[in-house]
Amino acid sequence: MERGDVLVVFGATGDLARKKLFPALYHLERRRVLDVPVVGVAVSPWGDAELRDYARAAVESVIPAPDQAAIGRLEERLTMVSGDYREASTYAALARALTGRAHPVYYLAIPPALFDRVVPGLAEAGLHRGARLVVEKPFGRDSKSAAALNGVIQEVFPESSVYRIDHYLGKESIENILVFRFANAMLEPVWNRSNIASVQISMTESFGVEGRGTFYDEVGAVRDVMQNHLLAIVSLLAMEPPLSADPAPMRDERAKVLAAIGAADPAQAVLGQYEGYLQEPGVAAGSETETFAAVRLEIDAWRWAGVPFYVRAGKGLAGTALEAVVEFQNPPRLLFTDNGRRPPPNLLRFRLGADDGVTLSVGAKEPDRLVSRQVELDVHFENVFGHRREAYERLLSDAIAGDPSRFGRSDLVEHQWRIVEPLLGHPGPLHRYPRGSWGPAAAGKLIAGPAGWYEPARTDEVVVDLRAQGAGSSAAPLTR
Ligand code: BG6
Repeated sequence: MERGDVLVVFGATGDLARKKLFPALYHLERRRVLDVPVVGVAVSPWGDAELRDYARAAVESVIPAPDQAAIGRLEERLTMVSGDYREASTYAALARALTGRAHPVYYLAIPPALFDRVVPGLAEAGLHRGARLVVEKPFGRDSKSAAALNGVIQEVFPESSVYRIDHYLGKESIENILVFRFANAMLEPVWNRSNIASVQISMTESFGVEGRGTFYDEVGAVRDVMQNHLLAIVSLLAMEPPLSADPAPMRDERAKVLAAIGAADPAQAVLGQYEGYLQEPGVAAGSETETFAAVRLEIDAWRWAGVPFYVRAGKGLAGTALEAVVEFQNPPRLLFTDNGRRPPPNLLRFRLGADDGVTLSVGAKEPDRLVSRQVELDVHFENVFGHRREAYERLLSDAIAGDPSRFGRSDLVEHQWRIVEPLLGHPGPLHRYPRGSWGPAAAGKLIAGPAGWYEPARTDEVVVDLRAQGAGSSAAPLTR
């Protein structure tokens, strides 16, 4: 794949550009690895100066004490094309801005409803040749609309030139799941139904919809994060070893494991909404949009038959954390137990959010008594590796370089929609839950056995005792 020679951001005046793209471009600029001009496109009647001011303000609002020289260099790269996405004149102006460039990278930071204007607009102006297209999630609203979007895009761009963003695939912590699994020979022999009892994946956010009510109310937790981010994590935890680390074998294995996951069963799912959501700006009166979703999935594959994968995501919860907890089977015979009480199982906990790392919970001898007590072997990657690059920074440089490994593919995205499809359109009751709890109590009942959901090992909040609120977890709350 040719290296891109210009980056074009559709939706350059929007929220995503402000929060993620300009800060990521700044980091690339600061490290002196950004080597292409950046053209912003938007409906707002802005010139270069307004876009540059916007970019500067975006960087300064996200990054404490940024390097002013790097911001200055970034500003010099920016030019603006303003116009209506339906008008041919917009693409004519863009063509002028791209004179002499052979491999543009188009980043669509715009709602998918606009793709069927922008993609044909690029084609009609002949701007699609030699180019690649980066599209943001959510990619469609369901299987049907995703297939329709794929149709619109594939009419113009070959699949190999389409980069579908799921920024979770760009997170170092999440990519580590794959390396950790396959770089450690001791894990592979036990990574199966004979040794693993269950897997839990939790994405908990203490904040609500925070100014994104209008967007979120149309989307909900299943479309916003479960269809993409959480299923990406499931695929990395469950996939077979790829033939190599090249993009195609890696994505093939992810596709295979997603193909083996049955469609979610609404009877094995709980949807909820935090109390107060209806008062958020932009939320429709009486909205039934879910801000919490939990589901039990099964993978119909030799390795995983009978192992439940519990997946939950929610906003307005007790703390912000992102974790995958792999629970191992108990030893066959209970030795060294305290009064015959079953000891807690071994857990391998991938901490994937802030303060990322891995924790292995194992039994060790208690002083003076011949019984086992759970202890934790813990690594914090920041301590070991120092600061790592943010997902958007990595994904933008991959898109410019032409490396598709960390992006979705049409078949992956379509499988992900097929899996969550039965949960769309409110198949069951919507459980209200108090803000600051761990979600509806009903979610705890999805989990067989007494342990319930494991509370995150660390969150960015001080977690108060929420057991009284019936949040479905029996583990003691943790403070940090
Ligand atoms: C986005 C969702 O894709 O991911 C947000 O739209 C969510 O609702 C966010 O808060 C979480 O991303 P991160 O990188 O902060 O875990």
